[in-house]
Amino acid sequence: MGDAKLQDLILRREKIRAGGGEARIEKQHAQGKLTARERLELLFDPGTMVELGAFVKHHCTYFGMEKKEAPGEGVVTGYGQVDGRLVYAFAQDFTVIGGSLGEMQALKISTVLSNALKVGAPVVGINDSGGARIQEGVASLKGYGDIFYLNTLASGVIPQISAIMGPCAGGAVYSPALTDFVFMVDRTSKMFITGPEVIKSVTGEEVSAEALGGAMTHNNTSGVATFIADDDRACIADIRRLLSFLPSNNLETAPAREENDSPDRSDPELNAIIPDNPSKPYDIREIIGRIVDNGDYLEYMPYYAMNITTGFARMGGRSVGVVANQPKVLAGCLDINASDKAARFVRLCDAFNIPLLTLVDVPGFLPGTNQEYGGIIRHGAKLLFAYSEATVPLVTLIVRKAYGGAYIAMSSKHLGGDLVLAWPQSEIAVMGPSGAANVIFRKEIKSAEDPKKARAEKIAEYTAEFATPYKAAELGYVDDVIDPVSTRPRLIDAFNMLETKREKLPAKKHGNIPL
Ligand code: HXC
Repeated sequence: MGDAKLQDLILRREKIRAGGGEARIEKQHAQGKLTARERLELLFDPGTMVELGAFVKHHCTYFGMEKKEAPGEGVVTGYGQVDGRLVYAFAQDFTVIGGSLGEMQALKISTVLSNALKVGAPVVGINDSGGARIQEGVASLKGYGDIFYLNTLASGVIPQISAIMGPCAGGAVYSPALTDFVFMVDRTSKMFITGPEVIKSVTGEEVSAEALGGAMTHNNTSGVATFIADDDRACIADIRRLLSFLPSNNLETAPAREENDSPDRSDPELNAIIPDNPSKPYDIREIIGRIVDNGDYLEYMPYYAMNITTGFARMGGRSVGVVANQPKVLAGCLDINASDKAARFVRLCDAFNIPLLTLVDVPGFLPGTNQEYGGIIRHGAKLLFAYSEATVPLVTLIVRKAYGGAYIAMSSKHLGGDLVLAWPQSEIAVMGPSGAANVIFRKEIKSAEDPKKARAEKIAEYTAEFATPYKAAELGYVDDVIDPVSTRPRLIDAFNMLETKREKLPAKKHGNIPL
């Protein structure tokens, strides 16, 4: 082969690598955004990225498009390594026709998804686009449809991670929405179905793009996003960290890590976290931080439904998913949003063979007309469903309250919890002492000489008899009551014991989770 051919290849590549050109790259940087290539370089281990489909071109001839060059078709695609493991990725290039998606960009993204599915590797999709390429019309809608279909086929087979690092509007939002994780970058990312202008013309509402679809809106209000980062670099570092907790696909387990935190470490401080007064709040994450390896806890949806915390940690080097009621917010009650959040997280962990640790301190489901009208019955049922169909090891620790239906919902033995432990101060009962005394001793209290005193006595009687872990332990619903100090070794031992757990659900097409 002559030098000329090689030179031609080099020139072609250089042109593609230049994307939309210097001026547009500068504009991208001025907005605090990295380019598609810079983002992928940060994502992959140095020198491991292999680009695919760089020479793909559109063949649109409408609206002068035949004269418009679109290097790489506005998306950079390929594979590489993250911590030495194969990962596929695509990054839309906003400098090329605003990263807009036409038929051929969609083909490149679909190729990434189908290849990743075939080989069982995670996919990271970086979104930064004006949406459907308007000049291509319905062909770009077909492209989105193909991507949605593949996202759905890949769901539960390979982890799919979306990062929103610019605009993501219209139907384009549904590809990230179909994936397992949605990262958003503060201030530079936006997601909405219809933007502020359309909303104003249709409903008359005035809202800024940031308030409508900014990163915090989707992290704390809509629940569309699962993580928020300060900038592109932090976001990509977080994605790499998240991948370390996940297996490459549903047939593998997450990679174990050699940790320098002894599995036998006991911790006297665990006795001091829960206040003596059972109505006093505390931060359950203090307990999580003390029992997991090196206190390393990656919180999933940290700003949404903060009455429950979910996230990834390691115990004895093994990846575990943590679900824990948070008494600091709404006393840790389960409500609509907490049920949705926890149910989705439980199913995520179950799909990817990540054992679950559930920490329970729950006074019940949140009362109120808002909750009832909003369908707490339907949403709460999701959590029951998710735990009941989970076949990964389920280890439960009741640290304080476990009352009523919420007790059942939080990975109780009755829904398939494999090992249920409780701390000595825990209260496991059908309802709280005050409510219970009001119902079962109503007549005695009413007819007493001093009803107030009688009520207090009855509450104390109920508390002593029933607000303990021992009634449940007597019935075998709690496997052991443990000294809080020894929590970490006991939990790690439980996960070791359950490592070979095998459970099969009845054969069916799929269940009918109450969506
Ligand atoms: C074609 C597009 C485009 C699009 C942007 N561009 N979006 N070209 N189709 N959807 C082009 C611009 O013309 C411009 O080209 C370049 O990309 C950069 O865009 P700017 O507008 O200069 O950038 P900026 O000022 O940062 O504004 C970004 C933006 C804006 C807010 C995203 O571009 C915008 O509003 N775009 C249109 C959004 C939209 O309506 N999309 C279609 C939605 S319908 P030049 O040559 O000037 O540099 C849809 C349906 C999907 O997505 C359904 C899926 C099921």
